[in-house]
Order: sequence, then C-alpha cells, then structure tokens
Amino acid sequence: MRANDQVVLITGGGSGIGLEIAKVFLANRNRVIISGRNLSKLEAVKQEYPSIHIEQSDVTSEEDVKTLVKKLETEFGGIDVLVNNAGIMNLVNAGDEGNDLHSQFQEIEINFHAPIRMLHHFLPQLKKSKQAVLINVSSGLAYVPFAQAPAYSGTKSALHFWTQSIRPQLKPHAIKVVELLPPVVDTKLAKDADLQDDTLKPMAPEKLAAIFWKEYTRGKEEITPGISLALKLMSRVAPRFIFKQLNKQPIPQS
Ligand SMILES: NC(=O)c1ccc[n+]([C@@H]2O[C@H](COP(=O)([O-])OP(=O)(O)OC[C@H]3O[C@@H](n4cnc5c(N)ncnc54)[C@H](OP(=O)(O)O)[C@@H]3O)[C@@H](O)[C@H]2O)c1
Repeated sequence: MRANDQVVLITGGGSGIGLEIAKVFLANRNRVIISGRNLSKLEAVKQEYPSIHIEQSDVTSEEDVKTLVKKLETEFGGIDVLVNNAGIMNLVNAGDEGNDLHSQFQEIEINFHAPIRMLHHFLPQLKKSKQAVLINVSSGLAYVPFAQAPAYSGTKSALHFWTQSIRPQLKPHAIKVVELLPPVVDTKLAKDADLQDDTLKPMAPEKLAAIFWKEYTRGKEEITPGISLALKLMSRVAPRFIFKQLNKQPIPQS
C-alpha cells in the first residue's frame, strides 16, 4: 500500500481515532484534510499541526458533501484516500418507549448512510487516482453485538458487510478497500458511553494508530487491533459465549 504523497480526507478527523490516523498520514508526507462539524475543534488542531487542512463539513448533509467534493477537486485535484471515520454511539434501552428515537436515526445517518454518501460523491476522484484507497472505520462490535448500544451495533455490522460487498466491486476500478475495526479506544466517544468493564479495557488512540499504520502499509484489508481479533474469532467458534462475556453490564436507562 502506498504510504506517501497521497491526498487523504479523514471525516471526523478533529478528535480521537480520526486525529491519530491523520497524524500518521501527516508524519509520512501525505497531504491531509480533516473534516467535522465543530469548526473551533478543527481550528485547535490546525494551530498544533499547521500543515493539516481543515474543512467544516457534516457527513449527513448532501449539500456539505457536494461542496467539499468541489473544493477538494479545485484545491488538491481530488483525493486519493477517503477515510470514513466520523461516528457516534448512543446507549439506548430499546425496551423503553421513552427512548430517544431521533438520536438513534442520527446514529444510522452518521455511521452507515454517510460512508455510502461519501463514497458515492468522491467516486470520480477516487477513480481518477492512481492508487486510491477507501478506509472504513467500523468496530470490533461489528463481530459481536453490544446490547447497551443496539443501533450502534447494527450500524457497525452493516458497515462491515457493506465494506466486504463493495471490495470486489471497486477492485476493477483500482480502488482498494480497507476496514479498521477498533477495540474500545480511549476517546470522547468511549468516555461519554462510560464503558467501564474489564473485558473492554480501552486502548490508547496513539497505539491504535500505530497498529493501523503497520498493518495498512503491509496491505492488510481487515485490521483488527487488540480484542477485536478475539471478537472476530470467538464470534465464529463460540458466539453465545462471547456475546455473554461482552454483555455483562446492566441495560442502560433511557
Ligand atoms: N472509541 C472507541 O472505543 C471506538 C471503538 C470502535 C470504533 N470506533 C469508531 O471510531 C470512529 C471515531 O470515533 P472516536 O472514538 O474517535 O470518537 P470521537 O473522538 O468522538 O470522534 C468522532 C468524530 O466524528 C465527528 N463527527 C460526528 N458526527 C459527524 C458528522 N455528522 N459529520 C462530520 N463529523 C462528525 C466528530 O466531530 P464533530 O462533532 O466536530 O462533528 C468527531 O471528531 C467512529 O466511527 C467510532 O464508531 C470507536
């Protein structure tokens, strides 16, 4: 996999996993654009890493994405690498009719619809690139459902299957498809969900990015750092056991 001199767009690159991935691409002489909704967060990153390009853009907005496509075509001649990283997670009790329906639909929009939208609109640029790569950031929870976050689990397994389905379709267009399935990583998303469990000890985002880079540059298509590999294997050999292990926490209150 080509490691340098690529134009890389990372959605949700202003924090957490996206930011750490942005840093490794940057350190390896790539031009990196990070996007997100919160401009001040992106500006703070720009202060620290002046060579990074920032774009305020919401992955759920058709208009924002189309504007971004045009802007990156004009300013960079298009992108070579698209990292669909933006995501949110809600803890929800589906058995409580008082739960927030809107937040669950928003989760589906950001985590699953948006990667499809991003690929759709950036496809002409990726086809034009000599060494294009699409990287989808799903989750180890794509292998084993997490009962605390039902819609989240659904979006991540959907993203996993979508990624596998489009891989052969994009091959004739010379677009490589890579999936990163992180374990629990110490970011705002995991902190907000308060994932405190021995089985779910968070990995440092810097460590995740280092593992990602090693496997990515070796050409691995499905990258399963930390416990994600165990989740993958256990989901095949002992699905009921691993489901129970992962779901010891009480069902959340809405
Ligand atoms: N942390 C974990 O334990 C873990 C485990 C497995 C997988 N993941 C996945 O890793 C990815 C990154 O998550 P993270 O842990 O790094 O969380 P994070 O620090 O909260 O980062 C998520 C990023 O997504 C951006 N984002 C959210 N909605 C967006 C939208 N509509 N448009 C554009 N950007 C949006 C956020 O920026 P704005 O709010 O500024 O838009 C934020 O920068 C997610 O897909 C997540 O599901 C995380």
